[in-house]
Amino acid sequence: MTPLPLLIDTDTGSDDAVALLLAAAGGLAEVRAVTTVAGNVPLAVGTRNALISLETAGARDVPVYPGCERPLTRALSTAQHVHGADGMGDIGLPDPRRAPERGHAVDALSSYPRQCPGELTLVTLAPLTNVAAALVRDRDLFRLYRHVYCMAGAPDGCGNISATAEFNVWADPEAARVVLQSATPDKVTWIGWDVSRKDAVMTPKDQLRLERAGTPMATFAHRINRTAAAWARDVTGLAGYDLPDPVAMAVALRPDLVTEAERVHVDVAVGDETRGQMIVDRRRSAPAPNVTLVRRVSETGFKQFLFDVCAPAPHA
Ligand code: BDR
Ligand code: CA
Repeated sequence: MTPLPLLIDTDTGSDDAVALLLAAAGGLAEVRAVTTVAGNVPLAVGTRNALISLETAGARDVPVYPGCERPLTRALSTAQHVHGADGMGDIGLPDPRRAPERGHAVDALSSYPRQCPGELTLVTLAPLTNVAAALVRDRDLFRLYRHVYCMAGAPDGCGNISATAEFNVWADPEAARVVLQSATPDKVTWIGWDVSRKDAVMTPKDQLRLERAGTPMATFAHRINRTAAAWARDVTGLAGYDLPDPVAMAVALRPDLVTEAERVHVDVAVGDETRGQMIVDRRRSAPAPNVTLVRRVSETGFKQFLFDVCAPAPHA
């Protein structure tokens, strides 16, 4: 199969890092560039983490472009209480060997697809600030992409950063609204946190399997999710830590893993009490659908893909 040419926008924390491994080491994609944005951690920290993750995946020449340092209109609120002060479980990872590019992420998001219209797939794993900024310049930018996958939102109203909102949308709801206003269901697939909470939870058994696999990527993926595991146990109340960005990446790379999806109109609330809530309109009178909303994926299929990439079985 021809590898899927990819651009990835990320606020690299511990689960983004695993998504980068899937993309860069899974054999199904050719990562052309990574753009970074403030979110889980401040911009410089996330950029460092993206470089480390790509190195761990053996992708040492993928350019990394830093982007926006804060949301469009709001102050930056990070998720370091979940992913650690360094976003990677505070395990003391050494610095990457490479430096980021000089260019800006927003320019990369605009210019890369212009070089090969219709070829690139964009996967967003972060607050949508960079993407919205690119769309403000060119509202039709998505026409240049083959497809866009966004990990964002909590369409079932069950949130992780507030009772009802998911982090990426909550962090920059105005940016999410700009993206949704440019979306069409044939071009944009939305993967909410509900998919992660239901189908991508790393149970203690899965965590042990990853730890025992002992390959460099499995060990990395296990160790960096240390603080996320504690957060899931103590605060979210899941049966283990969830992997929202890896499961979104898996949807992009392996659409066959999707078991339930709908075409629907989605908007985002920006009010104080409702900040970042998703408004999913299923009325007959609803505006035309703007996204394909993934609702479930195969849990066993996703985890098998994860283990195949991070800890491939030795050839006989
Ligand atoms: C999203 O927020 C971050 O914690 C994760 O990296 C993911 O992108 C999940 O709500
Ligand atoms: Ca992320």
